[in-house]
Amino acid sequence: MTILIRGGTVVNADREFKADVLCDNGKIIAVGDNLDVPAGAEIIDAGGLYVMPGGIDPHTHMQLPFMGTVTQDDFFTGTAAGLAGGTTSIIDFVIPNPQQSLMEAFNIWRGWAEKSAGDYSFHVAVTWWDETVHSDMGKLVNEHGVNSFKHFMAYKNAIMADDEILVKSFSRALELGAIPTVHAENGELVYVLQQELMKKGMTGPQSHPLSRPPMVEGEAAQRAIAIANVLNTPLYIVHVSCQESLDAITRARAHGQRVFGEVLAGHLVIDDSVYKNKDFAEAAGHVMSPPFRSSHHQEALWQGLQGGNLHTTATDHCTFCAAQKAAGKDDFTKIPNGCGGVEERMMILWDAGVNTGRLTPSEFVKVTSANCAQIFNIYPRKGVIAEGADADIVLWDAAGTKTLSAKTQFSKGDFNVFEGRTVKGIPTHTISGGKLVFKQGELMAEMGAGRYIKRPSFSSMFQALNKMRT
Ligand code: URP
Ligand code: ZN
Ligand code: ZN
Repeated sequence: MTILIRGGTVVNADREFKADVLCDNGKIIAVGDNLDVPAGAEIIDAGGLYVMPGGIDPHTHMQLPFMGTVTQDDFFTGTAAGLAGGTTSIIDFVIPNPQQSLMEAFNIWRGWAEKSAGDYSFHVAVTWWDETVHSDMGKLVNEHGVNSFKHFMAYKNAIMADDEILVKSFSRALELGAIPTVHAENGELVYVLQQELMKKGMTGPQSHPLSRPPMVEGEAAQRAIAIANVLNTPLYIVHVSCQESLDAITRARAHGQRVFGEVLAGHLVIDDSVYKNKDFAEAAGHVMSPPFRSSHHQEALWQGLQGGNLHTTATDHCTFCAAQKAAGKDDFTKIPNGCGGVEERMMILWDAGVNTGRLTPSEFVKVTSANCAQIFNIYPRKGVIAEGADADIVLWDAAGTKTLSAKTQFSKGDFNVFEGRTVKGIPTHTISGGKLVFKQGELMAEMGAGRYIKRPSFSSMFQALNKMRT
């Protein structure tokens, strides 16, 4: 399939310029003025539109078995919803049960993901430790294109990684040229606070944020940063939600430590008043970890993004319907944790970021695709409009508006944390792997069209860091 995108304004992380973009056989093959139209090419008129790299969401959970249930969106519906919002790639998570082999879990997730409509890759979680985990990490990096390992510092008695696991896994990641990532919350503290609240009879969703105060996140972020500092590994902290963990990242970076921070679209625009809603379904629909925070944290997160101490925007897309959330009707600790957003992230970032002057269009590209592609080593295949890159492209109408709602979303499920919000700045066309998959509200996602994206290890940089240790 050949597509010529004519007359738009290309936006990359480094600059904006007027150009035509020619795509053929899944790749961008030319970017320039007045490109000739090849025979049989489909022409898309991009006059008045921005032409940007398709979004990359570095944090999703499609078809995740979690807290006794499975998320609503599978790899087809979730990636299709992403395409409708201009996101053409996701990095999801393989999460082995403790004692389950990493390779076994990886193969299961690879099977589930075959129906993806957009491109996908995997971080692999280290939830336990023995020699087989050590050796499977090697196989995953060297044979399967995994260059990042995830550690949940929360979820005690389930998938929590203690300090011993963090130390062993971070060291192994360094040897392999892979980057450790953490969900930073002190799981012991969360557990104790949850028990105390339950004992006091505070069983409703309003207790969820009380059991996970900002310092619980700040402590874990600081601890992971300290471990990474001693071992001389880089570190990527997922879903940074509060001033405390952002401060830990900012301090570390000011001292030259290679620490990256991710922020969720939801944490940037939603505050913790949602947990005060008397309607259980409304409050429980917002239960995710870390929780939504009071508004001064949102301001801090925007400043982190603007100041370069937060690097990527994600969603942690992990959708449960009202019936699933009802499992925690009498015990907030049993409400499945997770909210959606893969479809809305780019629109939220544009509306609340670019329209307010917090981000330029190029900075928008940085935080929605380019930085992620660079941190996880798939740049310039992804994250840039340039000859040779994958033809993953979103055409953007900065004047278009849309009201976000569960009633009109492509994502499965009956809840939308952005319900009723009208955004200005919307995708008009999405091209994924060189095919037009979304056009003016019509989704043409194809089951199985997405490809598994291998991410090479960071061998040379890591070898240098490793040498510095010895
Ligand atoms: O509440 C959340 N975030 N659910 C998904 C699992 C995780 O912690 O990322
Ligand atoms: Zn998490
Ligand atoms: Zn997550």
